[in-house]
Amino acid sequence: MDLFTFYNPTKLIFGKGQMDVLHSEVAQYGKKVLVVYGGGSIKKNGIYDKVMDELSKADAEVFELAGVEPNPRISTVRKGAEICKNNGVDIVLAVGGGSVIDCSKTIAAAALYDGDPWDLVVGKATPEKVLPLGTILTLAATGSEMNSGAVITNWETHEKYGWGSPLLYPKFSILDPENTYTVPRDQTVYGIVDMMSHVLEQYYFKSPNAPLQERLCESVLTTIMETAPKLLEDLQNYEYRETIMYCGTMALNNMIRMGTKGDWGTHNLEHAVSAVYDIPHGGGLAILFPNWIKYTLDEGLEKTKQLAIRVFHVDPQGKSDREIALEGVGRLRQFWNQIGAPEKLADYGIGDDQLELMVDRAMANGPFGGFRTLDRDDVREIYKMSL
Ligand code: NZQ
Ligand code: ZN
Repeated sequence: MDLFTFYNPTKLIFGKGQMDVLHSEVAQYGKKVLVVYGGGSIKKNGIYDKVMDELSKADAEVFELAGVEPNPRISTVRKGAEICKNNGVDIVLAVGGGSVIDCSKTIAAAALYDGDPWDLVVGKATPEKVLPLGTILTLAATGSEMNSGAVITNWETHEKYGWGSPLLYPKFSILDPENTYTVPRDQTVYGIVDMMSHVLEQYYFKSPNAPLQERLCESVLTTIMETAPKLLEDLQNYEYRETIMYCGTMALNNMIRMGTKGDWGTHNLEHAVSAVYDIPHGGGLAILFPNWIKYTLDEGLEKTKQLAIRVFHVDPQGKSDREIALEGVGRLRQFWNQIGAPEKLADYGIGDDQLELMVDRAMANGPFGGFRTLDRDDVREIYKMSL
């Protein structure tokens, strides 16, 4: 294993009815609360009313920032930071999916930063202090509820980057699976693809002697794949929503990657696509990941073969390592097809006209990928395979 320090201070509050503790959690951080949410789903499904009830129990003064976009924009972060600065907000409360949480994390940092919030995203500035952040997760996907990263888009310049700081871990996150009952089928699928991709990114590592880390990854993948088809037939089933919600958090809260360094190249490739075309993150990953595995098969042969046998139950009898591995990638593609994820960039109407811009965006910080380093030509090839 590589040397590691594990640190994750987020208080995870999980299960049916846990919204009832919101008032006492918020009260620990102050009275002035900025509630951040998206395009209105929380008003339709009743979560907004419940949050407001809880905040009135806490005797809170409430400010609101509505309309956070999927693939949240720096312009919205700026609005939230202004509200905090002008009103002396004590705590930011994110109510939504990864986009709302990422926007809120960046607001929490920008509120106590004098310059433009984009400086934080591109690493021109590092936060020294941030406002406390609480989250109420309404969509199982990103793991942002229990990690210290955020992904923000600058739509004017077509840039989308992840950034992070240990200060950005939410103080608390409330995960009631019932809050995800109204997530539509397509968003449920994107979430499933995203959490599986997080595990895959962490499965491809070169760190020596990490057998438990591999088995943890395989367990999370297997559990998601067993549960996802049943959930998609029965979107309001508590147990399936509960399992998927827990998997989403475990997939990206540092628990399965202690002592290893994963790849994360496919995420970089996807962020460049959604920076240019504003497509759902999980949809982009479904298109790109199998192609990344195929493109890097020489380096990843042993890993992919192991994945094929242990997770996709490929029978290795009489087959070469390459055949086993390729059958495994085929089954990954087949699984994502079966649940209704896209397979080609063309499914989003994307052709090759902005290919070089996507390559530029992916290469913004130079060659990347912890397991297999990708350069410009590699990136272009993987995009071409994905058209
Ligand atoms: O905006 P509203 O009306 O709330 O609707 C949202 C949105 O349209 C809807 N939704 C959420 N909860 C719902 C619901 N609809 C009905 N009922 C509910 N309970 O779902 C749509 C998508 O929401 P969004 O938050 O965009 O999805 P997701 O959680 O997949 O987040 C995607 C963003 O997270 C970033 C992605 O790049 C993308 O910007 N990521 C963040 C990561 C992190 N911070 O660790 C890691 C990921 O790899 C990812 O890059
Ligand atoms: Zn992701």
